[in-house]
Formats: sequence, C-alpha cells, structure tokens
Amino acid sequence: VRCDVAVFGLGYVGLSLARAVAASGQRVVGYEVQPTVVDALSAGRSHVDDVSDEDLRAMAAAGFVATCEAAELGEVDTVVICAPTPLGADGTPDLAPVRQASWTIAKLLRPSMLVVLESTSYPGTTDDVVRPILEQGSGLRAGADFHLAFSPERIDPGNARFGLASTPKVVGGVTAACTAAAASFYRRFVGEVVQARGTREAELAKIIENTYRHVNIAMVNEMARLAGDLDVDLWNAIDCAATKPFGFQPFYPGPGPGGHCIPVDPNYLTYKVRAEGSVLRIVELAQEINSGMPRYVVERAVRALNRRSKAVNGSKVLLLGVTYKPNIADLRGTPSADIAARLRELGADLSYHDPYVPLWTIEDVLVPRTTNLSAALADADLTILVQDHTVYDPAELIKDCQLLLDTRGLTRGSRHDNIEIL
Ligand SMILES: NC(=O)c1ccc[n+]([C@@H]2O[C@H](COP(=O)([O-])OP(=O)(O)OC[C@H]3O[C@@H](n4cnc5c(N)ncnc54)[C@H](O)[C@@H]3O)[C@@H](O)[C@H]2O)c1
Repeated sequence: VRCDVAVFGLGYVGLSLARAVAASGQRVVGYEVQPTVVDALSAGRSHVDDVSDEDLRAMAAAGFVATCEAAELGEVDTVVICAPTPLGADGTPDLAPVRQASWTIAKLLRPSMLVVLESTSYPGTTDDVVRPILEQGSGLRAGADFHLAFSPERIDPGNARFGLASTPKVVGGVTAACTAAAASFYRRFVGEVVQARGTREAELAKIIENTYRHVNIAMVNEMARLAGDLDVDLWNAIDCAATKPFGFQPFYPGPGPGGHCIPVDPNYLTYKVRAEGSVLRIVELAQEINSGMPRYVVERAVRALNRRSKAVNGSKVLLLGVTYKPNIADLRGTPSADIAARLRELGADLSYHDPYVPLWTIEDVLVPRTTNLSAALADADLTILVQDHTVYDPAELIKDCQLLLDTRGLTRGSRHDNIEIL
C-alpha cells in the first residue's frame, strides 16, 4: 500500500508526529532501526508516555505501519527525520543516526519530495550534514529537485495543555520554496506554522529555547546553594518576583535537569562554537552548575542526617519520585540516578517510591521499591523528594516523615523541624 509520509525514528518525537499525521488523514509509515520497537508497535504496545495503546489502534486503523525494512517504504511524498541526537562518549554531538537516516532516505528520493529534519542539532546540520548526503546518494539537488527543511520539535512529554497541534511549529527551508512546502505539510495538523528565514535560523531557534531554560535554571540552582548562607527563603523570593506581570518568568531550583532538551541539546551549540574557535561561556557555566546539583543534593542529605547525629552509612534513605519530570514514567537522564549512585556508594540503605516506575536499576543493581508510602516514610531515617508527582501530598509528607529533604519546594511555606528545603 502506498503511504504519503514516512517518519524516521519512532521515539517520543517520531511516534507523536506519526499519530498527528495519521489523524490528519494521511497514510503514514514509520521506519525504525530497533526491531524490538517495531515488534512492540506492531503488537499494539506503545513505549512512549504520551502515545497510548488506544492511540496506536486508531493509528493502525488509519493505515499506520511500522517497519525496519527500508525496501517496504515505497514511494512517499514526505519524509521526516526524528532520529536521536545524543552525545558521544567524549561528550560531543553524535550525528551518526541522522547521517544513517539520510543515507537511507537518499535511496528513496524522487523529484519534488519533501524531506524535513526534526532532530535537535546545531545550526548548519540540515545544510552541511543532511543535504550533501541526500544529494550525493540520489544525484538530485535540494531546492532544485527536492525540498529540504528543518523544523524543530517542541514536544513536552506529559504536558496536557500544549501538544503538537496546539504549539506553533517553526519551519525553515534551504530555499523559500522549501520553507513553503514544509509549511503546507505541517499546516495539515498544526494550528500555527511560523516560517523562519532558513534552516539555520530554525535550528538555532530550538537551541535558544532550550538554552534559555538551561541558563535560567542554573541561575536559581546557584542561588539555592547560597540562599542558606544569606538566611533567605529563595522559594518565597521567587514567588514574590513572579508577581511582576512583565519581563520575568519564574524558574525554580531542583536536583538538576534530566531528559534531553536541557542537559544535552545546549552541548550541540557549545560544541559548534568551540569548533569555530570560540567559547559560549554562559552555556558552559550553566552546564557545570546544573550537572553539579545531584552532588549538592547528596551533600545536603549528609548534612541533614548529621544534624540528627546520624551517618549516611547504614541509614535508611527513601527517594520519592525518580523520573526526570512529574507524572510521567520517563527516566532518561534523570538526576535521581546520580543521587542514588552516590548515596549507595556512601553506604545508605536505599529504597525508592514512584508510582510510575515499577523497576529501577542503578549501575545494573536493582534499587528496592516500596509501594506502601506512609509506612516507608515513617521507616526511613531520611526521605528525599526528588520528583514532585501530584500523588505526593505535602501535608502527608510533613506528618509522616522522620526527616525530609525537599528538592522541589513542595512543602515551601511550612516551618517544621523535620523538613529541609533545597
Ligand atoms: N523527547 C522530547 O521531548 C524531545 C523534544 C524536542 C526535541 N527532541 C529531539 O528529537 C529528536 C528525537 O528525540 P526522541 O526523544 O524522539 O528520541 P528517541 O530516542 O525516543 O527516539 C529516536 C528513535 O529513532 C530510532 N533511530 C535511530 N537511528 C535511526 C535511523 N537511522 N533511522 C530510523 N530510526 C532511527 C531509535 O531507535 C529511536 O527509537 C532528538 O534530536 C531530540 O533532541 C526530543
């Protein structure tokens, strides 16, 4: 059966996109390199928080299929690349999946096809990395024979208010005609499409968004370390500042950002800037501050126990909420992994509670899970609230905990001897 659209990479971004494309009445095929992902999707099981098994059924009914075989893709009009853009072992961008996807697509390319890259990367990736592969592999020219554009993904896993359709979509093509082609593709299922001057502007727009959050989170995290010395309630100060109706957006301290957008993406930009012989100091500093937060949380845990004349070694420490965002099951890059590893190294008797995470291993060793929250709170020498899932009720934590280190400000405003706030 002929499909209209092929989505390359069926992860968080690709599967959500495939759902939107299918719902807009276009036939979509998903190409994925991991056979286990294809098998699960074909059996109707979703591995992505925001896409339910029921969504998969509706997608299948609209003609969606997933495959590992490029030969099965057939003649499509549009291809969207949603391959991962991780960091390599040396901390620099790993564009191998994007390159690999581009070589596969080059073999499918036909005149007037549209290719869009959605994977987050540094400015120049579409033009300097993807374009030469597509052109070499197909003998066709971007802008002249086929359309090529970049459109950053803005998906926010677990966000019930803003989804793909309700979040403006930025597109930038290698020519104005490419931009227009990409815009008309996205208009079929996104409410507002914003046309950038070109691919580089669209690429940088995404990195600016992520870096903005990264830097502002680092600012409050650094303040959190100093607030104690100044004898000031930082949470209250931020809440007061946030009453200003213009020119300020509140960011709150925490145990360190997880996921992909904030800890990983700004590195793509700093890498590119360093490759050009310069340094983006503010971004690198933010990286240093934010990545040091798990270590700071452990330091605060040590101090909290010390005040009770206890050592971490041998103490029962309970981690509440171990995902990187509230109310979802996503563990990618979660700071709780680093916190758990350090506490275990110090000899803590560690356990965790998280309604979204049935099994949790740190460095290949299972962390014991507890499901009886109130009993676990009473039993633990120290409870650390790492993620404030809405199931955690501040009044209950205050009442049942022996000692709580609250890294999310959930209990802010309260004054209790058994509570410490980051
Ligand atoms: N998850 C988010 O919230 C989010 C938000 C904005 C932007 N992004 C960006 O979108 C991109 C994809 O992110 P994700 O979260 O969906 O990643 P993911 O790891 O969940 O999914 C990527 C999928 O692509 C597959 N893949 C790898 N190489 C491939 C290839 N050559 N051809 C086809 N498939 C291939 C992988 O097996 C994987 O299943 C990244 O650049 C990321 O930075 C992600």
